Amino acid sequence: MENEQRSNAGAPLMPGANLGETATMRAAVQHRYGPPSVLELSKIGVPLPGRGEVLVQVSAASVHPGDYFVMTGEPYMVRLVYGIRRPRHRVPGMDLAGVVAAVGKNVTTLRPGEKVFGWSTAGALAEYACVPARNLVPVPANLSFVDAAAVPTSAMTALQALRKIANVRPGQTVLITGASGGVGSFAVQIARALGAEVTGVCSTRNVDLVRSLGADHVIDYTRTDFTRTGKLYDVILDNVEAQSLTAVRQALTATGTLIPNSGRGGRWFGPLGRIVKARVLSGFTRQLLLPFMSVGKRQDLLTLTEMLLTGQVTPVIDRTYPLDEAADALRYVGAGHTQGKVVMTF
Ligand SMILES: NC(=O)c1ccc[n+]([C@@H]2O[C@H](COP(=O)([O-])OP(=O)(O)OC[C@H]3O[C@@H](n4cnc5c(N)ncnc54)[C@H](OP(=O)(O)O)[C@@H]3O)[C@@H](O)[C@H]2O)c1
Repeated sequence: MENEQRSNAGAPLMPGANLGETATMRAAVQHRYGPPSVLELSKIGVPLPGRGEVLVQVSAASVHPGDYFVMTGEPYMVRLVYGIRRPRHRVPGMDLAGVVAAVGKNVTTLRPGEKVFGWSTAGALAEYACVPARNLVPVPANLSFVDAAAVPTSAMTALQALRKIANVRPGQTVLITGASGGVGSFAVQIARALGAEVTGVCSTRNVDLVRSLGADHVIDYTRTDFTRTGKLYDVILDNVEAQSLTAVRQALTATGTLIPNSGRGGRWFGPLGRIVKARVLSGFTRQLLLPFMSVGKRQDLLTLTEMLLTGQVTPVIDRTYPLDEAADALRYVGAGHTQGKVVMTF
């Protein structure tokens, strides 16, 4: 962020914003792509909300593997979107929860003081973030800021994969790999809420967690290879892609749907090779092989809000970190062994 174009360092912010004289804030900042050590805690100007934007005083922000890829600039492909030579936005992070501090022009849906959560497009690991109003919804009454911040990208990915892409229907059998992770822990609960019979695949230490999320069956991948049990599934959401497409398809019914969903892969193109392979293979089988890119959708966040309110979905929080330990948080997420979500608190 450093929303260079609209930074407010040293100037009064907005009438009624009450941000003090200096209008600076603490933020995790990166000036170049690289490992977590490129992040430094800095004082930068509070950004000004533009037309249609809201200034959020951030209470909590979660981090996920996508934030790690953007921070490192690898796979290099991400630089086409986030800046070729250096990151376009100096503040990493997307998902946040907090309080509306000020609103820009044309914002009629939100008012200062409201508790909101959603996804920023210009950095969330800062005390304040400018966010398009359409990316924010009210925090459900039963949710803390930490829980709310954990939701947006991971839960929307799980919801879109299962409901929109796979069109999961009651009674279908759904297998989810990485069931203990950020996406998987939401996916198990959402698949269950959609009426599916759910199998979660995870390591030994996470078996109880995945069962507690509502999985009907749990497969410990350190002991059993789900592609070799002979059991077939209507839908497989493969968040890990530890096995080849060919192997995973053996566990899919003849007309089943496989969603390869891992963002990990080679240094240049990440998962692109696997995505292309799945698309090409799709033409030669009745099975549906459907890699997809999740997109931020306000309506999906509202659907998730309902599920959070009714208790159908509860975020799993692995660890929280203070802002000055942002590098440790991203290092942990990058290692790929999280149990649910990792959240920064402010
Ligand atoms: N398509 C999209 O638009 C989209 C959007 C968001 C995320 N993603 C991708 O989705 C993937 C998952 O994201 P995430 O946030 O859930 O990642 P995560 O939080 O790092 O979770 C990964 C989980 O998988 C477990 N795991 C590791 N190896 C496994 C195996 N062989 N079988 C089963 N589980 C295994 C890990 O625990 P243990 O190591 O303890 O087993 C961990 O709990 C990422 O690659 C991300 O890039 C895609």
